[in-house]
Amino acid sequence: MAGQISKNFIQELLSRIDIVDVINSRVPLTPAGREYKACCPFHNEKTPSFYVSPVKQFYHCFGCGESGTVIQFLMNYGNYQFLDAIEELASIAGLEVPKGYVQSHQQEGYTQLLELMEKVNAEFQRQLYKNPESAAAREYLKERGITFEAAQEFGLGFAPNEWSFVKNNYGKTKNDLNMLERAGLIVVKKDSVYDRFRGRLMFPIEDRRGRVIAFGGRVISEGEPKYLNSPETMLFKKSNELFGFKKALQAIKTEEKVLVVEGYTDVVVLAQYGVKNVVATLGTAVTSSHVKQLLRTIHNVVFCFDGDEAGVRAAWRAVESTLPVMEDGHLVSFVFLPEGEDPDSMVRREGGEAYRERMSNGEPIAEFIFRTLLERSDISRTDGRARFATEFGKVISGLRPGMLRQMMLSDLATRTGLSESAIKSVLETPSSEHSASRSKPVASKDFSLTGQFISLLIQHPQFVKYVMELKGIEKLRDSNIRLLVAVLKTVQNNPELNTASLIEKFRGTDYFAQIKLFAISRDDFSESELEEKFEGIVMKLQERIIKQENKLKISQSDYTFDDEELQDFLQRLREQDLLKKNVQEGRKIH
Ligand code: UTP
Ligand code: MN
Repeated sequence: MAGQISKNFIQELLSRIDIVDVINSRVPLTPAGREYKACCPFHNEKTPSFYVSPVKQFYHCFGCGESGTVIQFLMNYGNYQFLDAIEELASIAGLEVPKGYVQSHQQEGYTQLLELMEKVNAEFQRQLYKNPESAAAREYLKERGITFEAAQEFGLGFAPNEWSFVKNNYGKTKNDLNMLERAGLIVVKKDSVYDRFRGRLMFPIEDRRGRVIAFGGRVISEGEPKYLNSPETMLFKKSNELFGFKKALQAIKTEEKVLVVEGYTDVVVLAQYGVKNVVATLGTAVTSSHVKQLLRTIHNVVFCFDGDEAGVRAAWRAVESTLPVMEDGHLVSFVFLPEGEDPDSMVRREGGEAYRERMSNGEPIAEFIFRTLLERSDISRTDGRARFATEFGKVISGLRPGMLRQMMLSDLATRTGLSESAIKSVLETPSSEHSASRSKPVASKDFSLTGQFISLLIQHPQFVKYVMELKGIEKLRDSNIRLLVAVLKTVQNNPELNTASLIEKFRGTDYFAQIKLFAISRDDFSESELEEKFEGIVMKLQERIIKQENKLKISQSDYTFDDEELQDFLQRLREQDLLKKNVQEGRKIH
């Protein structure tokens, strides 16, 4: 655990540092009266509203509201953790961070390891351009259409095809060899010591501060493994790091969005096409640590996967890593590329602008979850609905309470025809591995409006006479609508049927199981109450039909929202919920 840094030390540090210098070296400032200004690095703007006050040693943006001290600035702009920021400032001020403050990189040899990586990285780059034996590597880059500029920007290098290149150059003493091993650059076996990376195109992997902490080495043309990565070291924890994060940071802030891809080359080639707000995982699944870092940096994360089955599987893992760290206001979406394409090939085919456009039209996480779960279960069947609800319950219980969870719940209610309270009670029962229908007796009030209607129709078919014509009902967007229309028609056409004969009429159809479910629910309404219920539901349905016709435009694409629409949807949901509460409190129907 990191020790506490004393307030005194921070005071002293701040007194020795000028915020203007620190910011100016990262975001060039121009004088403005007694202050300095610049275009805000934290949001996209054309005229400066970002001000730095030398008197207050404070920055503030009138545009986006970001403000803070120099420490805050480093944390937000450079993506430093608090202790990292302190350390950086201490080194600028020429102060020693007090002992007792234990940070991972205070561990023995941390700084030396970083220095070693930096040296070896520089040498690999030199090799790529200077060594005649790397001609094949340069040729390979050319063939792949990776420009010299892009290669340089990402510091690509070449590890000579020798067993002892790194070992001989950097492992002169026993201690040096030990450092090389700890850096993951050489392999030490019982009776042999040799270079890990041989004859490979080297992609340096940087931490969020741009320091080289590992390498990914690609074979030139064919060979196994295609990519060889540094092992986990004191510097490198695979599941925490993202390739290209530091380089992408500026673009992430100005574009207000980060794109996550799977491959190193994808990042490099996208950047070449002007799409620079991109990071890649390191050949591992997306972890919660990744998502947390990304969402801390920007609230809009777009995952880009191949359209094949592996892509969908990887996307689902990303969902699982995202849900526990996602909060209201976060936008997470998924883009699946056409079969056989990856971002590299895609952007070459359609160009940077089209690619960017494609990334703006991802599938919101909620929709992706629904679609995936729906594909896994047939919700026209009772057991399918149960399975869907159970699977979905697992997903929702991974969510923090908040609007997102509420939105998913409401959506689930609409799609399964169960009320939110019924779903909640199922979700809260730990042993509810099976359906809402089986584990608990269901009362008809636990159903949605259409569900209630179906339930009443089945149980009291003679009351159909209180149902006036519901024109356009078949167009209502509701997961129960097909069933409702079928039941309604049957009852209207056969006024003599009682419940049992009605159910029997549906035997052998897709609706049978579901109808039985609706028939199980128990209500003890009096005649007059039933009359009232029927009329009330019919009125509400009519209202809904009219509303939907008017609002068709808004929900036309059935939950395929862009960001703005999503916000709008959330807002409406909030209002709707309030409304519902008021109605429930105002007059208890039952
Ligand atoms: P891909 O196989 O999609 O690689 O693996 P790519 O980036 O498109 O590579 P090119 O275009 O063939 O050069 C995606 C990522 O998975 C990891 C790497 O991080 C790679 O960028 N990976 C892949 C490995 O770590 N080892 C491998 O053998 C293959
Ligand atoms: Mn590729």
